[in-house]
Amino acid sequence: MAHRQSLIAGNWKLNGSRQSVIELATAVSAGCGHLSAEVLVCPTSVHLGDVSTITADSAVTLGAQNCSNEQSGAFTGEVSASMLAEYGCKYVILGHSERRAIYHESSEWVASKCQAVQKAGLTPILCVGETLEEREAGQVESVIAEQLDAVLNSASIQAFDNMVVAYEPVWAIGTGKTASPEQAQEVHAMIRARIAAHDNAIAQALRILYGGSVKPDNATTLFSQVDIDGGLIGGAALDAESFLAICEAAG
Ligand code: 13P
Repeated sequence: MAHRQSLIAGNWKLNGSRQSVIELATAVSAGCGHLSAEVLVCPTSVHLGDVSTITADSAVTLGAQNCSNEQSGAFTGEVSASMLAEYGCKYVILGHSERRAIYHESSEWVASKCQAVQKAGLTPILCVGETLEEREAGQVESVIAEQLDAVLNSASIQAFDNMVVAYEPVWAIGTGKTASPEQAQEVHAMIRARIAAHDNAIAQALRILYGGSVKPDNATTLFSQVDIDGGLIGGAALDAESFLAICEAAG
C-alpha cells in the first residue's frame, strides 16, 4: 500500500483579527517543527500576507479557503488561484459545505475551481459530505458520488493525482457531533474505492481527510482508521494548543 503522509489542515473560516491571526500562526509555527504530519493553516485571503511571512521559515504549509474559477478579469470580489500561489499557498479548500449551502456552489462549479487551482500549480482540498437528511434517507453514497463525479467528468482521474479529498459530514460541522470512527471509515473506504475503480495507484496515494468536530480527545481514534489520512479542523484549529494536540495525534 502506498505510504500516505498525514495532513492536518486548520480551516480558520471567517474568524480572528489581524493581530489574533498573527498570534495563532506564530504559535502553530513554533509548535510543529518536530511532527511527521504535514501541518496546514488556511486563513482568510486578506490574512494570507501576514501569515505567509510567519509560516515561510517554519514547517507549516499555507493554504486558502476558496478561490475563483477565473484567472483574471471582470469578476469583482474574487481572488484567483495564481494570486494565492504568489502568497505562498500550496492548497486551496474547495467545495466546503458552507460554500455549497450558503453560496450555492454547484458540484460543476467546484469542479471548475479544481481545474483552476491545479492549473496554477496548487492542490485542491475537495470537500464532500452529506446532510443529516441525506444520511437518514440512505443517500450518503449517491451524494458523495455526485460530488466526486463532477470532478471526474470535467477533468479525468488524473485530477486526483494532485488532490486531497476531505469528507465532512454536514451534520458534524461545528455541532460537536463527530462521526464515529467506524462511520467515517466506511465513507472514506467508499471514496477510495470509487477512485480505485478508475485508477488503483491514484486511489492508494490519495489522502482523504475527515472533518467535523475533530478535537484532541477524539482525534487519535479517528486517525487510526486505515482510510483516514488526517483531518480538516475548524473550531479546534482556532486554539493553537488544541490544534497542535490534534497534529500530535496524527504523528
Ligand atoms: P469543526 O471542526 O468546527 O466542526 O469544522 C469542521 C470544518 O468545517 C472544517 O472545514
